[in-house]
Amino acid sequence: MTEPDSRYDVIIIGAGAAGLMCAITAGKRGRKVLVIDHANKVGKKILMSGGGRCNFTNLDIQPENYLSHNSHFCKSALSRFTQWDFIDLVEKHQIPYHEKTLGQLFCDHKSSDILNMLLEECRQAKVSIKTRCQTKTVQWDEQTQHYLLETDLREFTAQSVVIATGGLSIPTLGASGFGYDVARQFGLKLYPTRAGLVPFTLAKKQLEIYKSLSGSSIDVEVRFDDVVFQEAMLFTHRGLSGPAMLQISSYWRPGQAITINLVPGKNVIQWLKNRQQQRGNAELKSILSEFSSKNISQVFSEHLLANNGINNAAMKTFNEKQLQKIEQILTNWIIVPAGTEGYRTAEVTLGGVDTDEVSSKTFECKKQPGLFFIGEVLDVTGHLGGYNFQWAWSSGAAAGEYV
Ligand code: FDA
Repeated sequence: MTEPDSRYDVIIIGAGAAGLMCAITAGKRGRKVLVIDHANKVGKKILMSGGGRCNFTNLDIQPENYLSHNSHFCKSALSRFTQWDFIDLVEKHQIPYHEKTLGQLFCDHKSSDILNMLLEECRQAKVSIKTRCQTKTVQWDEQTQHYLLETDLREFTAQSVVIATGGLSIPTLGASGFGYDVARQFGLKLYPTRAGLVPFTLAKKQLEIYKSLSGSSIDVEVRFDDVVFQEAMLFTHRGLSGPAMLQISSYWRPGQAITINLVPGKNVIQWLKNRQQQRGNAELKSILSEFSSKNISQVFSEHLLANNGINNAAMKTFNEKQLQKIEQILTNWIIVPAGTEGYRTAEVTLGGVDTDEVSSKTFECKKQPGLFFIGEVLDVTGHLGGYNFQWAWSSGAAAGEYV
């Protein structure tokens, strides 16, 4: 027999963004809630997020900002617990925040403001939290119509079990494949997982060319298939990163090329012709430095242009055909990344539990009553910019109403 304090209405496995939000919502409904996490601390990704300032949501949340095999699945939860609901909570706790860029909301001070807010809400909702608690098995007892959880602390029972263990990104922050294992155990379909919002690596030969640019950043428009992002690109000692590259990495497929416009929004031909007239004796590379740093234009004129038969020379020496070629090269830099940095540095995991297996209203499994999946463990992945936390808040709050 299990002792009384081992019996809960709801047990949530994973004390991250989605799990804590679900716990708060369920606790406020008077449900007896326990959240367990195998890590030594709760909400590690919240603390690490947004460079320590947590990009907790976005002013403009649209279903189009999410990748999933079912593009409609996210709509219901996102419309029931919106960015404005989360902003209300942040304001209720008097947490100062600001819009950084593109609707992205960040804490003025620290990410811990958000985690402390969630923990205070948990306290008010009488939610119990246990860390360093490893779940060994999750079993459904047909007779009692309860779940039985065997952990390394003790045995627990619950009417509802919520899997909120996230994806595989950054194992050092507590990530594990536990949620996928539970899904498999109950016969749910999964989509293969892969790292998303992750820097690209370049082959050794390419790295040699661009290594002097490590740390340099430039605004670009990057394209893969029909997906386009216009944001900053950063050269690193391993390859390419920065928001533009992280965004497109979620769409990229190994072995495929991405196309980068190094002068987005510019009529390059017109611009080059103007410069020809105004600064005919200036060298091409110094003209290029008008749109990027000196060292970027140096490397591009030495390698990118030179490899395409354009050598650095006075602007006035280029004919129309050559100007067109320069434009083509600058607006269509085609690069095949060697790979990505993988789960070690990825912000998110694409794929996961097939959304057709759970209700978009309650997040309960269609074939396993009382078992819920929320957050990143599901096959729903947001763009960079606060979209992933909003998915965690929205899916957590939605399930919290039904567990
Ligand atoms: P999350 O990963 O938050 O929580 C899962 C929890 O489950 C963890 O506490 C983990 O320890 C626990 N767990 C795992 N396995 C377990 C097991 N076997 N037993 C018990 N517990 C287990 N998004 C965004 O919108 N804005 C941002 O600024 C950032 N920044 C950012 C930075 C970095 C470095 C990363 C890695 C990620 C981001 N993200 C982000 C993405 C965001 O952090 C992520 O999408 C959400 O945290 C997902 O929320 P979940 O609750 O689903 O998982």
